[in-house]
Amino acid sequence: MKNINAVITGVGGYIPDYILTNDEISKMVDTTDEWIMGRIGIKERHILREDGLGTSYMARKAAKQLMQRTKSNPDEIDLVIVATTTPDYRLPSTSSILCEKLGLKNAFAFDLQAVCSGFLYALETGANFIRSGNYKKIIVVGAEKMSSIVDYTDRATCPIFGDGAAAAMLEPTTEDFGIMDAMLRTDGKGLPFLHIKAGGTVCAPSYYTLDNHMHYIYQEGRTVFKYAVANMSDTCKSVMERNHLSKEDIDWIIPHQANMRIITAVTQRLEVPSEKVMVNIERYGNTSAATLPLCLWDFEDKLKKGDNLLLTAFGAGFAWGAVYLKWGYDGKR
Ligand code: UT7
Repeated sequence: MKNINAVITGVGGYIPDYILTNDEISKMVDTTDEWIMGRIGIKERHILREDGLGTSYMARKAAKQLMQRTKSNPDEIDLVIVATTTPDYRLPSTSSILCEKLGLKNAFAFDLQAVCSGFLYALETGANFIRSGNYKKIIVVGAEKMSSIVDYTDRATCPIFGDGAAAAMLEPTTEDFGIMDAMLRTDGKGLPFLHIKAGGTVCAPSYYTLDNHMHYIYQEGRTVFKYAVANMSDTCKSVMERNHLSKEDIDWIIPHQANMRIITAVTQRLEVPSEKVMVNIERYGNTSAATLPLCLWDFEDKLKKGDNLLLTAFGAGFAWGAVYLKWGYDGKR
């Protein structure tokens, strides 16, 4: 009997309407369009501004489009994994809210928190459920309302992040396509360099934590930058080596969209030309767990059956990795 593998059979996405430009950010903090474009490579980011709407709203829009494109019936969905660090609530899970909104009756669902590497971790997790032979349709979502944890008085972080969601359908195949390999890593030494100080179980919310902006992202950018470049390129190289892939064999690199200079440094180390690199950071900024599926969503019409894709991400934890996948269909669904 042939081995079962998991293949992506469609993607869906959603970006909120409101566009926050560099010029608008320059009115909030001491910065310029020139600095943001030169040091990060972001022109604008989309923000979910409407009161009462959270991450599940964007996840639902992305997953609905995915289900339409893959002609999936709600009753067929077995599992939903939502990669997010900005859930609607502390409890219940955002994925449970998504199940309700999508009318899923036969699925189980959970959230997965690995910050910017969330989609990579969720993809490999979902793939293993498919490989078990017991699951036939799995929705893997990366969705973030980063604007809810960004301090718009801190110029070091507020230009970086945006909101958005995208989703991929995983289904079984016995053909030579799908998630071929994954190398995922976690090293807790990253805590001091990238974290949110309060609101968890170590430092409960209080007037003090609110007054001192302790519910927002804190980052030592230079240190994170250094580790991101080294670890993303090293894991990509390792995955290429153990799958006997030369740089010519790679059709697309899909890097986490945190900083254009990180993307350039990683792809230069891999010696892959820029035409083979998916980039949309200029329009969306860093949407954390949503960056990778948003790239797949944006570039879907350029993808061909059999293309070799290398996805890579790095983020808080530190958590990082690379996934090699063989694309399973031609063009846009
Ligand atoms: O997605 C999760 C993983 N995160 C990442 O991968 C992010 C990695 N880090 C980065 O992308 C970059 O480090 C940042 C974009 C966060 C910062 O860029 P940088 O080139 O590393 O700047 P820096 O933090 O070293 O700051 C350089 C200078 C500083 O001024 P001095 O000390 O040299 O006088 C900052 O105060 O730039 C200043 N600066 C700004 N100036 C204008 C910092 N932010 C701004 C700003 N506008 N928005």
